[in-house]
Amino acid sequence: MVRLRLLGLGEVVAVSDPAAAKLIFTSSRELLDAGKAYAKIIPVLGPDALLLLDGERHLRMRRVLSPPLHGSAVRQYQGLIRDAAMDEAGRWPVGESFAIFPRVQAIALEVVLQAVLGVSDQQRLADLRAILPQVLEVNLIASIAEAAYPWLAKGRVRRLLPWARARREADRLLINEIAAHRIGLEDRDDILAVLMRARDKDGTPLTDEELADAVMTLLLAGHDSTAASLAWLFELLLRHPESLARLEEELREGESEVFLEAVVQETLRIQPVIEAANRILNVPCEIGGYLIPAGTFVMVSIRGVHRSAFAEADEFRPERFLGEPLPPHTMISFGGGSRRCPGASLAVMEMKTVVRAVLECAELRSAAPKPEREGRARRFTTVPARGARVVVSSKRGAGNAPSRHARSVIAG
Ligand code: HEM
Repeated sequence: MVRLRLLGLGEVVAVSDPAAAKLIFTSSRELLDAGKAYAKIIPVLGPDALLLLDGERHLRMRRVLSPPLHGSAVRQYQGLIRDAAMDEAGRWPVGESFAIFPRVQAIALEVVLQAVLGVSDQQRLADLRAILPQVLEVNLIASIAEAAYPWLAKGRVRRLLPWARARREADRLLINEIAAHRIGLEDRDDILAVLMRARDKDGTPLTDEELADAVMTLLLAGHDSTAASLAWLFELLLRHPESLARLEEELREGESEVFLEAVVQETLRIQPVIEAANRILNVPCEIGGYLIPAGTFVMVSIRGVHRSAFAEADEFRPERFLGEPLPPHTMISFGGGSRRCPGASLAVMEMKTVVRAVLECAELRSAAPKPEREGRARRFTTVPARGARVVVSSKRGAGNAPSRHARSVIAG
């Protein structure tokens, strides 16, 4: 456990002990708030975003958002994900080095746009495709400063902040999309339509502002972290030829995904793209033998817990996930308790589907002699600093076929 004093956040206690993580994740909702904590870091999401809510309002929104992200519901997107990945990987150049992060980010953005908004106005989709990555270009430090000094968020300065401008434009597009969705709402099966049809116990629908914040959260949370995890997966896998060979053999042999699942889990363990699950204590709590005062900002360090809970934690060894199931609260890449990421099933299925499709299309190798370092403090997710540079050594089977879609999912 470490105690820090951070500008904008005040007294912060960071924990890396799995027992402390378990205590925090399993404590009752009244003892700590997550929304209040995230609002100090990510005001860009909007006040009705699930991540920023607590108490009854959080429960209500979570009840509405969870079913369309459930394991069985997200299976319907597998074909879409495979097509988007094949289409993208099919156009990668042979023998040239490129950063894989923006490429998988484009795939993940396309998937979440279609899952959340369904078939939509093509121009509006194109505008959203261009603007959403800009909303994420927010600098983490500037974002915390914005939450700590609200006059920044209201005053003239905010109008000059590029991510705030991007967020305003994205909001405008989403409000138009919600209005367009009202026509033929009953026949649509995308996530926005599910949210628009949802009613409270007393029959009240979500307001347009709640819908816009919910959709924005899904679009942003739903693509960037999955893309960052995919970039790390390729970076790690291509530097471990035995793991790559074993995975390619499994994929060649058929439908089994046992080793593929292990590779995904090992990537999420060794390179968590969200560094911490954050809470604020509402009452004094004893954690790890210390009495921590009410009001303290507590960060469960995801990387720290993974390091403490696993032997030879710095080694990439997917085999560790092939044996007995792990004790709870040792793998916490998706956070925990009542706030555990509701998109976890979609993210894992998407990662597996993209890796399978890419390896069917292309033989890849790492393009950089040295392993990537974490690019920190620029954004909310920890991405490989140089975007994980790779080279396609040769095209395979599906990668040689002409693309099924005229348009690349890479913007432009
Ligand atoms: C590899 C990909 C992903 C990772 C590593 C990840 C990780 C996380 C983490 C650590 C949290 C905070 C949990 C806590 O505080 O205990 C979270 C929350 C959340 N995530 Fe994800 N996530 C991923 C993908 C997704 C996807 C695909 C979606 C939706 C389409 C999504 C939607 C959300 C939402 C809405 C929340 C807020 C939950 C709440 O406050 O109740 N995430 N995620």
